[in-house]
Amino acid sequence: LWLAVGIRRRNPGEPPVENGLIPYLGCALQFGANPLQFLRSRQKKYGHIFTCKIAGQYFHFLCDPFSYHAVIRQGRHLDWMKFHFATSVKAFGHDSFDPRHGHTTENLHQTFLKTLQGEALPSLIDAMMGHLQDIMLDSDTVRPCAERWQVDGIFVFCYKVMFESGYLTLFGKELGRDKPQARQAAQRALVLNALENFKEFDKIFPALVAGLPIHVFKSAHSARENLAKTMHADNLSKRENVSDLISMRMILNDSLSTFNDISKARTHVALLWASQANTLPATFWSLFYLIRSPDAMKAAREEVQKVLQSTGQQAEPNGPRLTLTREELDNMHVLDSVIKEAMRLSSASMNVRVAKENFLLHLDNQEAYHIRKDDVIALYPPMLHFDPEIFEDPYEYKYDRFLDEDGQEKNTFFRGGRRLRYYYMPFGSGVTKCPGRFFAIHEIKQFLTLALSYFEMELLDPLVKVPPLDQSRAGLGILQPTYDVDFRYKLKSHP
Ligand code: HEM
Repeated sequence: LWLAVGIRRRNPGEPPVENGLIPYLGCALQFGANPLQFLRSRQKKYGHIFTCKIAGQYFHFLCDPFSYHAVIRQGRHLDWMKFHFATSVKAFGHDSFDPRHGHTTENLHQTFLKTLQGEALPSLIDAMMGHLQDIMLDSDTVRPCAERWQVDGIFVFCYKVMFESGYLTLFGKELGRDKPQARQAAQRALVLNALENFKEFDKIFPALVAGLPIHVFKSAHSARENLAKTMHADNLSKRENVSDLISMRMILNDSLSTFNDISKARTHVALLWASQANTLPATFWSLFYLIRSPDAMKAAREEVQKVLQSTGQQAEPNGPRLTLTREELDNMHVLDSVIKEAMRLSSASMNVRVAKENFLLHLDNQEAYHIRKDDVIALYPPMLHFDPEIFEDPYEYKYDRFLDEDGQEKNTFFRGGRRLRYYYMPFGSGVTKCPGRFFAIHEIKQFLTLALSYFEMELLDPLVKVPPLDQSRAGLGILQPTYDVDFRYKLKSHP
């Protein structure tokens, strides 16, 4: 009978199992309503590890941060590719990147490391700084002036400025024979269109990851395909200043894969999504908490002032554009902490690995559990991020939480008197850790630096409440707010 209704019975040595009340879905609805609350209550009942059936699959949730290492280190029993590549295929509709499926021999992981980190980083940072200033100071997207305040939603503002700058940084600008002004207008129309399509598609992303076919969602489907059309090789080859990431992916698509043209284009849509879907809400939360906290604002303004002074620059909207090197940005520890703290409060990415075979998972407390082949092991970092033993008053925003007494990056956090190796994981962990994380932090820092240098900013309602997180995306990254918050900004007047 157990087998007939698809219910698993706990075997000796396995973690406690919860099949949920609904066939197939299992615990999916309770988990989805509030993952943190759900996991906490099960942790109280079962301890460090337990198993839940979610949408037909068995997930082992590991809740002891001192045991995370057993999953994060690249053990021979665990497969990181299976889940990741399958998810990307489900969401974006390209052929599989899993080398075992025979469509490509590209080592995608290596491509990302080579084109998003190390020597590739300065040119990304440079391009981003230019685009951000073009858009913030000299475009129809944002029209700041010194005489009067402009009102906008913080979310809307961050989305339009960051999407356009990030898009142009990765995908370059269209070459053209038209006059510069006409070209600029066409360029802007293309990016605005891409933003609308991106938002339409992004809305249904959780449903696609859960396994629903994209055909069910007509407008999101055509939004994704519209994005893909703009990323056909014919169109991309008409663009200049394309990033190393996209140019290298184009070459490797052509030389190492059997993907057809539409599949190739969809791989670029996947990268557009990866580069924006988390960065945009992370920028919102960083700016929102910064404007809302006078202490944070003061400390951040001082840091920005200091870096401009030490590099001999002045923020003049009509003067020379500001430039900051990677090292200068790296040394802005206050902004680092401002961003990290905003992401601690809004991140909900789940880290998963699939068991390649039956094996024994050893926990830190010397216990060991049998795990079955094809089961998923999951870590849910918000359990760390909101743990009052690790972060005092975990629901409060404290801009300097990640600064030590010397104003440098703080990286010693404890639980039960023991130092933690894993305490902060919005970018994932181990081999699947986000390859774009350095660029992501730099671009948000650049955005904040420029906003603080050029603008005065205020909340329309200084006592506004923190908008709740939209839990429908829990598990997938930085959560969005359920509603926008208005602010006003104007150009700083210079003596
Ligand atoms: C993957 C977070 C920005 C490129 C990921 C993953 C997370 C993440 C959690 C999955 C890790 C896992 O499955 O364990 C974030 C956050 C960002 C951000 C919080 C911003 C605040 C970026 C940016 C880029 C980028 C700006 C590129 C320009 C990627 C790529 C992957 C990825 C290519 C897939 C890696 C793979 O499958 O090997 N990111 N990301 N991300 N991210 Fe990011």
